[in-house]
Amino acid sequence: MEIDHLLSTTRAVRRKLDLDRPVEAAVLEECLNLALQAPTPGNAQAWRWLVVRDQRVKDRLGGLFREVGAAYLADREAGDAATRRGLASGQHLIDVIERVPVFVIPCLKGRPSGENATDAAFYGGIFPAVWNFQLALRSRGLGSTLTTYHLSRETAAAEILGVPAGFTQVGLLPVAYTTVPDFKPAARVPLAEVAYLDHWGAPLS
Ligand SMILES: Cc1cc2nc3c(=O)[nH]c(=O)nc-3n(C[C@H](O)[C@H](O)[C@H](O)COP(=O)(O)O)c2cc1C
Repeated sequence: MEIDHLLSTTRAVRRKLDLDRPVEAAVLEECLNLALQAPTPGNAQAWRWLVVRDQRVKDRLGGLFREVGAAYLADREAGDAATRRGLASGQHLIDVIERVPVFVIPCLKGRPSGENATDAAFYGGIFPAVWNFQLALRSRGLGSTLTTYHLSRETAAAEILGVPAGFTQVGLLPVAYTTVPDFKPAARVPLAEVAYLDHWGAPLS
């Protein structure tokens, strides 16, 4: 896939996940190996990647996901058509979560400290790799969404998964083949409104 197309069309996939098509171990390992090529602070590579396929484990995690996700969506205002579509898409993922073939839970050694410089490096030690993983999935016909709902029940999830003390879960990615071959670039706030030249507020061009 051409690189700019990949970068501009890797979406959060929820409705277009193929819940019936198995995901081979080999394709997941390829994508995880590409995730491991991402940069980390001091080359720490302090990550762990939990791949969940066991239906009983997915059922238990899915319960946490639904509990938190449903409460979050219930609090959101419907707003314009795009927001309504986003909420419906979020609700769909919550409705089917246990049926998604694979969950991937990226974890990091340590805990955030509440201090910006430290925490930027802490979370920066995994999110580039998570995005590498999502791009690699997309280039192979699979889709995912980075979700954070279940982190409100992180301790319960750690017990289910056996995550040791001292490791932080940073998300849960439901992973499946997609039911469509391609996606479109998303509407975003224009660059001119969010990028400045030399001084805050100064136009970039
Ligand atoms: C840090 C982070 C947390 C997110 N958490 C959730 C989540 O809990 N549930 C969900 O459905 N989507 C979640 N998303 C996906 C965003 O909603 C999605 O990326 C955004 O709406 C833009 O859509 P697009 O990625 O398709 O362009 C998260 C994305 C990021 C980067």
